[in-house]
Amino acid sequence: MFEKTVSKLRERKQQSEKFSVVAAYDATFAKAIADAGVDAILVGDSLGMLVQGKRSTVPVSIEHMAYHTAAVVRGNEASASPTLVIADMPFMSYQSTALALDNAGKLMRAGANMVKLEGGEWLYESVRQLVQNGVPVCAHLGLTPQSVNKFGGFKVQGKSDSAKQRLLADGKALQEAGADFLVLECIPAALACEVTAALSISTIGIGAGSDTDAQVLVAHDLLGLGDSPARFVKNFLTADNIGEENPVRDAFAAFDNAVKTGSYPAPEHSYK
Ligand code: KIV
Repeated sequence: MFEKTVSKLRERKQQSEKFSVVAAYDATFAKAIADAGVDAILVGDSLGMLVQGKRSTVPVSIEHMAYHTAAVVRGNEASASPTLVIADMPFMSYQSTALALDNAGKLMRAGANMVKLEGGEWLYESVRQLVQNGVPVCAHLGLTPQSVNKFGGFKVQGKSDSAKQRLLADGKALQEAGADFLVLECIPAALACEVTAALSISTIGIGAGSDTDAQVLVAHDLLGLGDSPARFVKNFLTADNIGEENPVRDAFAAFDNAVKTGSYPAPEHSYK
C-alpha cells in the first residue's frame, strides 16, 4: 500500500533515478497506469478540456476534482501495485490560506495523497499551513494553465532574464515553504536544468527538457488521443511498444521505461 510515497520518490533524486507521472481522471485508466508501474497519477484539472470538452481548465470546480479523484483512487486501489495519487486544486480554490486548507481537505478526503497548486512565492503561507496540517504539496510553475487568460494563450514561459530569475526565486520560496515536488511546464530546457540543480525537492517536467527529476504526460496525449499540438507530446501506443492483451497498459509502461532510461524527452520535445 505504501510502496510509492512522497518521501520514497524524493529519495530518487539523491540516487539520480527518474520517476514517471501520468495525468488521468478515471478508475479504468488509473488501474492500467498503476499496473504499468508508473510512479504517480496526477488527477489534473486538464480534465476540463479532456473530459468536459472545455477550452481551458478555468471552469473546473473543487466538486469536479473531488469526484474524479475518488474515481482514480478506486481504480488505483484495485491494482496489485497501487501508486501515489496527486490531485489538482482548481482555479480560485486556494486564493486564501483558509480556502486552500478547506479545499485541500476535500481532495485528501476523496483519497488523494498530495495536492498540486499553481503559482509562486505568493503561495508561501498556504503551502506552509497545508504541510503543517499533513497535506503534502506539489507546486507548479512556468506555464500555469489556470492563468491562460493572463498569459494570452498557452505560451512558453521563462524566456526573459527577469522571468528566469523570478521562476528560480519562486521555486526556492516554495521549497522553503515545504513543497516536496515542483512541476515545471513549458519552459526552456536550460532553465529547468538550472532550477532542478538549485533545489533539493524533485522537479517534474512537461515540455521542460530532459534534466528534470521526473516527467509527466497526460494519458490521452501519450495514447495518441487529444489534439494537443505541443512539441513535448509523444504517442507511446505504437506497434513496437504494445502486445495484444492490454495495449493501453503497455503504452503506459513504455512511457515509464522511456522516462527511466532517458529516451524521453528527446531534444525535439524541448523548448530553447
Ligand atoms: O492538469 C494537468 O494535467 C497538469 C499537468 C499537465 C502537469 O497540470
